[in-house]
Parts: sequence; structure tokens; C-alpha cells
Amino acid sequence: LRDGSRLECLLARLTAQKAWLELAALQIRTLQGPVLEIGLGKGRTFDHLRRLLPDRRIIAYDGELHAPAAARPDPCDLVLGNFRDTLPRTPDWLGSRSAALIHADFGSEDTGFDAWQAEWLGPLLEPLIRPGGIVIADRTLRIENSTPLAAPQALSWPYFGWRVF
Ligand SMILES: C[S@@+](CC[C@H](N)C(=O)[O-])C[C@H]1O[C@@H](n2cnc3c(N)ncnc32)[C@H](O)[C@@H]1O
Repeated sequence: LRDGSRLECLLARLTAQKAWLELAALQIRTLQGPVLEIGLGKGRTFDHLRRLLPDRRIIAYDGELHAPAAARPDPCDLVLGNFRDTLPRTPDWLGSRSAALIHADFGSEDTGFDAWQAEWLGPLLEPLIRPGGIVIADRTLRIENSTPLAAPQALSWPYFGWRVF
């Protein structure tokens, strides 16, 4: 749908995100561990995730806080700073390989920048995700020791998922 109107593209992207978040939430239901939201942005997907997984700790990351007050985590679950700095430090305070689900939603309209970020982001997630855990992302990532997940339904926007072993 890349040649659709901006409205159609936004609708397709949000539909894909919602479907993947719902699939991932279902798949980790019996797996312990927090959820990491990598790219809090306006807090839309964070807010959806906390409704899907009401008893789960959700830790959100961003460079800056853009989310309205009603769609932010508690300050203790908000990690501000560049992902390149904050993600490598996470195992020290969260424990290594402890997250059940990571949602990486970091894309922008700059495809070159996104490709560069995707290259280093995938390897930074590997020490964080629990065996059996799921990573979903708005860009394709290199996640060692994982198998790709099939899309939950026919979707007209790319979104990606992996189960890590
Ligand atoms: C697509 S938006 C996230 C949208 C959000 N999930 C939502 O549903 O509202 C991407 C976010 O990632 C953040 N971001 C991108 N690259 C980053 C980096 N290297 N370090 C920190 N934050 C970054 C941006 O500031 C932006 O808020």
C-alpha cells in the first residue's frame, strides 16, 4: 500500500500494529517477564499493550517524552535517552534475558536512517529477550537465534515478528 494516500498508509500501519500487538500479547500470556516498548512516542501502542496485558510491567524507552500524561508509564518504568545508550545498560538493572515481549517501534520517514538504526538495534535486543520471548518491530531486524513469525492476518503494511529461542 506504499502508493496509497498518507491517510491510507497511516490506517494500514496502525491496523498492522494492532494485529501484531494482539498476536504477541496472546503468545506471551503464559511467559513471565516484562514488556519493553522501544519507542514510546505518543504512547498509542503503549496504551494498547497495557490494556492487552493489564498485569504486566511495561517499560518504555524513548529519546524524549512526547506522550501525553494519560499515556505514559510511571517514571520508574520510563527510560529516556538514545536507545544505543539505554538498551546496553538495561540488563544491569532488569536482569539479562528477562523480557517476554519487545515491541520495537522506532521507524521514521527517513528510510536510510531507519535502516542504519535497525542494523544496530537488533543485536542490542538479543541480551534482553527471554528464551521463548517475542520481538515485534516496524522494521526488519537481525535477531540471532530466532524464527520469524507469520503475520496474524493479511495486512497491507509490513510489520515483523520473531520468536527467540
Ligand atoms: C514511530 S515513533 C513511536 C510511536 C509509538 N509507539 C506510538 O504508538 O505512539 C518512534 C519513536 O522512537 C523514538 N526514537 C527513534 N530512534 C530513537 C533512538 N535512537 N533513541 C531513542 N529514541 C528513539 C522517537 O523519538 C519516536 O518517539
